[in-house]
Amino acid sequence: MLEKVRVGVIGVGGMGQGHCKRLAGDIQNAELTAVCDVDPDTLQAVSTQYGVPGFSSHGELLSSGKVDAVVIATPHYFHPPIGIDAFDAGMHVLTEKPMAVTIGAAEKFAAKARESKKVFTIMFQKRFSGAFQTAKKLVEEKAIGELYRVSMIATGFRTQRYYDSGAWRATWLHEGGGVIINQASHELDFFTALVGLPSQVCAKVRTRLHRIEVEDFGHCIMEFPNGAVGYLCISTDEAPGTHRIELCGDSGRILIDGNKILLSRLDTPSLKDFALQSDTVWGSPKAQTEEVAIPDGKANHGHVLQNFVNTILGKEELVIDGAVGLTELELGNAIHLSSHIGKAVELPLDRQQVEDHFAQLRRISKPKASISVARETDPQHLQK
Ligand SMILES: NC(=O)c1ccc[n+]([C@@H]2O[C@H](COP(=O)([O-])OP(=O)(O)OC[C@H]3O[C@@H](n4cnc5c(N)ncnc54)[C@H](O)[C@@H]3O)[C@@H](O)[C@H]2O)c1
Repeated sequence: MLEKVRVGVIGVGGMGQGHCKRLAGDIQNAELTAVCDVDPDTLQAVSTQYGVPGFSSHGELLSSGKVDAVVIATPHYFHPPIGIDAFDAGMHVLTEKPMAVTIGAAEKFAAKARESKKVFTIMFQKRFSGAFQTAKKLVEEKAIGELYRVSMIATGFRTQRYYDSGAWRATWLHEGGGVIINQASHELDFFTALVGLPSQVCAKVRTRLHRIEVEDFGHCIMEFPNGAVGYLCISTDEAPGTHRIELCGDSGRILIDGNKILLSRLDTPSLKDFALQSDTVWGSPKAQTEEVAIPDGKANHGHVLQNFVNTILGKEELVIDGAVGLTELELGNAIHLSSHIGKAVELPLDRQQVEDHFAQLRRISKPKASISVARETDPQHLQK
């Protein structure tokens, strides 16, 4: 049995360097033992900073004998092929989000993870937040009964400078989309973990503010298998950002506004029964609203890294099975596909149609006019 997990980080740009810092710092029972990047200057700088061997290809890192586990923090298209090679080499894998660009590629990744029996997790750090855990428990306990209307507004902001900070960013060729595939993946994960996947999506994506070929705005209406309806609005063109989820059910409503949760319970067990059985003309159920206490709202990458390491060592249960990444990705792919073909799409999506769609977008992608590379992650990601 291992006493310490030797971890290699593959892709040591902005986010990867954040992971190196945590692994060399406050993550218990782990050791950063190797790094990999295709950019020679970045590789040299990070390998020197941490005094660990640097490899210019993930294959060399995997066969080096220096690591038991890897963290993949490359651009998204590389997550499945590198992850599959890592499982084949007997490694445990933590992948950055999104799991892949297309649902088909993500399914191959998840299948390999299952077959390998190694630990597989994904960096959805918001799942460790008090807001997520509390909201999920409320939904699982059916605190508001069967859902009949759900919505999420998840808007934020990015500068043009952010988009210009990497040749791969915001291109169909290298990133496979904009806000839907990248910034919103956390929110789509949060949302689908609460409400599941819709059966139909009718979406529009647009490029409203930035000089990029992919979308910085997207919205959609959704229908769920039980007949519930939903609305989503996502962007990187708004400040101050809004993170609001509203769930309306047969016996109440949950409002999640950032780190605050309001729960309204009706004084009747079923709104539907009340509507059909009440003999009053103007009657309406009364609601009691309370703010739900949230345990320690903080969540950061360190929680996911520590749980990954502890699971490998047999000290903890895995909190986030990497395969959960399939769900938000299927919704993201549905939003893209529906907008581009100009009509509603049914879920589960036709995998081949998704592949053909993204392949077509890669063919029409154009090189970016202005790039000034900065491998720098959001400073908030480095906070304790
Ligand atoms: N969980 C989060 O909160 C969070 C935050 C930021 C980024 N991310 C994710 O991390 C990933 C990387 O984003 P970033 O902002 O760090 O980008 P970045 O451009 O700063 O870094 C990516 C690095 O990967 C390297 N790279 C590219 N192809 C490679 C390959 N085949 N093998 C090895 N290295 C390779 C690049 O040279 C670069 O140094 C993305 O998938 C992104 O979605 C997650």
